[in-house]
Amino acid sequence: MPAPEAEPLSGGGIRDEGRQLASEPVAIQIFGPDEGEVTWSIEVPARERLVMSPGDLAENLAGAVKTARAGGGGRCRLWIGHVAPGDDRLAARWGFAPYRDLWQLRCSLPAPPSGLDVRPITADDEASVLVVNRRAFAWHPEQGDMSAADLRERQREPWYDPAGFLVHERGGRIAGFCWTKVHPAGAAPPEDVAMGEIYVIAVDPDFQGLGIGGPLTLAGLAHLHSRGPATGMLYVESDNDAANAVYRRLGFRRHHTNRAYVADL
Ligand SMILES: CC(C)(COP(=O)(O)OP(=O)(O)OC[C@H]1O[C@@H](n2cnc3c(N)ncnc32)[C@H](O)[C@@H]1OP(=O)(O)O)[C@@H](O)C(=O)NCCC(=O)NCCS
Repeated sequence: MPAPEAEPLSGGGIRDEGRQLASEPVAIQIFGPDEGEVTWSIEVPARERLVMSPGDLAENLAGAVKTARAGGGGRCRLWIGHVAPGDDRLAARWGFAPYRDLWQLRCSLPAPPSGLDVRPITADDEASVLVVNRRAFAWHPEQGDMSAADLRERQREPWYDPAGFLVHERGGRIAGFCWTKVHPAGAAPPEDVAMGEIYVIAVDPDFQGLGIGGPLTLAGLAHLHSRGPATGMLYVESDNDAANAVYRRLGFRRHHTNRAYVADL
């Protein structure tokens, strides 16, 4: 699923909602007030957390909490990317309790060959792909409600490549799809390696448990490797047992965790 940096779809993540109130000079952002399920959203992106000391995090978090309280308070979600030991304790100072872990997994490329019949998406497939996405992600807080407009919006992004959006058919139906995304080297400093992301992958519930997920992932990884990256990457909920069973078997290992917390401020 997509990642928690104001864009993900498959790895799940943070949506860019509300009005951004402060981001400079520190890399922690607060969004709100909002009418949604939370009034405030505080985000510490993984790449910023990596270069932030615990003292800086504490200070900036205190500032964001103060902003939210001054704006009337309410329910607040906090995402800490690349969470470090001690962050839970620090977040707990303001009453933040963890409720969701999103893992970033990585593997080396090339991966073993897939053997599954796949082809790039065409415009005619889009409605069916959205149905598969909705059915497969009915349980997911962000991904399940991807609309045709959301899809079109992503198709206009510079990274979008229909050759990397693979579908698998069975009995004349789209049984599953694997949508990939290439991150060029240097795209997300301080990391400078090119990565190939399994951006969204889904098998329709009618076809789950049949062993399609593994080879479908491998088909996506083969495409990604053909575009250059030597590292495969994806985001997955820590409690998505079916997906994690598939990824573990393919050699994916956890690289870091993005953690969501909630508090009433
Ligand atoms: C994750 C997913 C792609 C795996 O595809 P799949 O074709 O079902 O994969 P498999 O058939 O290899 O099954 C994977 C595991 O889940 C179990 N499983 C899958 N569907 C199941 C079902 N409906 N009932 C019981 N078990 C099921 C399988 O037994 C297997 O577990 P095991 O390895 O311990 O035997 C698919 O389940 C899916 O689309 N899930 C919803 C969307 C999603 O979570 N995408 C990944 C986001 S990162």
